[in-house]
Amino acid sequence: MSFSIAHLIAAQQAEQYPLHLQYINPPLARAQAIIGFDKLYTRGDGAYLWDANGERYLDLLSGYSVFNLGRNHPVIRQTLHEVLDLERPNLVKMDCPLLAGLLAKELVSRMPPGLQAVFFGNSGAEAVDTALKFARAATRRARTLYLGHAFHGLTLGTLPINGGADFRNGFGPLMPGCEAVEMDDLPALERELRKGDVAAFIVEPIQGKGVYIPQDNYLPEAQRLCRKYGTLFIADEVQVGMGRTGRFLACEHWGLEPDMVTLSKSLGGGYIPVSATITWRSIHDKTFSRLDRCQVHSTTFGQNELAMAAGLATLHVMEAEHVVDNAAQVGDKLLQGLSALKERHGLIQDVRGKGLMIGIEFAPAGSLGVKAAWTAAEAAQKGLFAQLVVMALMRDHHILTQVGGPGVNIIKLLPPLIIGDPEVERIISAFDAVMGEAAHVSGRVWSQSGQLIKQALSQ
Ligand SMILES: Cc1ncc(COP(=O)(O)O)c(C=O)c1O
Repeated sequence: MSFSIAHLIAAQQAEQYPLHLQYINPPLARAQAIIGFDKLYTRGDGAYLWDANGERYLDLLSGYSVFNLGRNHPVIRQTLHEVLDLERPNLVKMDCPLLAGLLAKELVSRMPPGLQAVFFGNSGAEAVDTALKFARAATRRARTLYLGHAFHGLTLGTLPINGGADFRNGFGPLMPGCEAVEMDDLPALERELRKGDVAAFIVEPIQGKGVYIPQDNYLPEAQRLCRKYGTLFIADEVQVGMGRTGRFLACEHWGLEPDMVTLSKSLGGGYIPVSATITWRSIHDKTFSRLDRCQVHSTTFGQNELAMAAGLATLHVMEAEHVVDNAAQVGDKLLQGLSALKERHGLIQDVRGKGLMIGIEFAPAGSLGVKAAWTAAEAAQKGLFAQLVVMALMRDHHILTQVGGPGVNIIKLLPPLIIGDPEVERIISAFDAVMGEAAHVSGRVWSQSGQLIKQALSQ
């Protein structure tokens, strides 16, 4: 009997949630249903998704920044078809594959000076893990510094540098020697660096959880201090890189020259998992130090041809379609439009971001009734108001957003970098409408609060 994935999908579409409830992650499947995100998506194109009823949704999650070019970009698709049709000899392993060399060259040409050696992996956490290993090998030091609120992945190697207790709890003991310092606190950073035993200080130039942006002098000064004390400065650009903030690397906003850069997510064009850890040749050589250590760090699917081809096509499309400039320009418009809403809606406390990475923070405001509803929601579950807004944006405006981290009243927007004026207008008018409703405790935004509170309390 022949196998057809199209037939399988058509026949089993309705089983999607029952399958997850039975075989994968029941709490996650239930949570999607509670917040009204349990759609049966059947198609994706550009910044939009369609469900089985033909309803269209604007996707401001972008698969957590995997779909910077939008979904199913024709050039990436065509490239992958070509690789398959060429019947390439993928993953020979005892080999140095051409496409990996070509992608490494392209990436290096987009890096700050000096970063010339590339290691390819399969995920963001793996890129970070690799950077931490390289730092230990290069410095012969054991400690790592990271920032409060940081997110660098959820593997056992990256959990100890995660700034969120929610993620760490229940998995200890974690790798020792990892200490948090607070963003913008340079004296605290220097106190730790001065001990002379810190291999690496790792930062997201703009933090993903909460969209926290450092003060202007922080990162340049942090880099200077790292150099002074022989600590490697790692820029984790897994989420903010690849044009997200209106520059190819977010580091460019501050003219940084990190010792290592990590990339992943949209490097695979929205199709193939891939990551890159890019560093100085001298640092790389400390790990791959001799012929007999040439594979001392490696991963089976690293350099796979589909990922490398997708990466090359992605970089090509980014240039051909001026994706980074679009992110900067459209991002400015969106930031301004959303900031203007602050004047009209007291519940919006702050709007911040760079390019198309935008955080909207809420705080209690308005009538006594709204403030009381906020207090009740917050007591049941921190960050519940932001979740109500996410639900309303989905229910009434078919817009996918996310709460910007555990327990925060922040919504994070990560649209595909190809959006334009129509999407900007739609996002601003949807937020305007939802915040208008949220100002009335009898409105639809708060009406779902009771149900969510019950769910939260029952947990
Ligand atoms: C800055 C940063 N680093 C690392 C990671 C981990 O990436 P992955 O989920 O691919 O392991 C993420 C994921 O969101 C991230 O945002």
